[in-house]
Amino acid sequence: MEIEKLLKDNPSFHVWGDGRPANFGVSDKVVKYIISKLKPGFATLETGSGKSTFAFLMAGCKHISIAPDAGEGERIRQYCLANNLNADFSFIAESSAEVLPALMKTIPALDVVFIDGAHRYPYAEIDYHFTEQKLRVGGYMIVDDVHLPSVRNLFVFLKREKNWKLEAVIGKTAFFIKTGEEVLINDWQNQGINSFFLVYSDFKASVIKLIKTVLFMKNRD
Ligand SMILES: C[S@@+](CC[C@H](N)C(=O)[O-])C[C@H]1O[C@@H](n2cnc3c(N)ncnc32)[C@H](O)[C@@H]1O
Repeated sequence: MEIEKLLKDNPSFHVWGDGRPANFGVSDKVVKYIISKLKPGFATLETGSGKSTFAFLMAGCKHISIAPDAGEGERIRQYCLANNLNADFSFIAESSAEVLPALMKTIPALDVVFIDGAHRYPYAEIDYHFTEQKLRVGGYMIVDDVHLPSVRNLFVFLKREKNWKLEAVIGKTAFFIKTGEEVLINDWQNQGINSFFLVYSDFKASVIKLIKTVLFMKNRD
């Protein structure tokens, strides 16, 4: 099946709280951009599922989707069956926060991670925290809905980190490449997000020291 058919069908894989069908899928542009980053056999993982899942399936990835609604997994498989599409992926019907800590200890390295599960704070950060440890250098960390205040912190953090390169923002979806492993110096000190604070506190300490020295000299006279 061509990706164009899926984009034209635009099926609803999600449901609202009252059970009505819903479609929270990413844009067609994002689906196509994700596909352009994939190769057959890539190990990939997404939090959330839906239209984006097909990018990974069609590219022939070894894919894991994590979303608490088992019905989404079923609807995706049914759509695959109806369209002669490979439905060979792992759907974990649980919350990412529950699953990821243990899962990350058992799976091999990941080539691409797509964060688009729960959007309330701090889910995107939890998803990032556990999956980035498994993402290989050179792999993609894709974060959806970076316009939301509850996701934006992660976007700002990654933009300032030395080991992440922002390749593109398509609509509200950001594509970061992992350029290296995080280098820890003590704890928070080497993180880009803290660099201004470090310079500022060094400066403040120097000014206080200078004032104390001047006062001491004055009192001595
Ligand atoms: C915006 S939709 C994802 C859209 C999907 N990427 C697509 O292109 O169709 C949000 C997804 O997060 C899932 N979700 C909600 N709470 C979650 C949680 N705690 N852990 C993982 N996924 C969650 C929903 O079931 C839904 O699949």
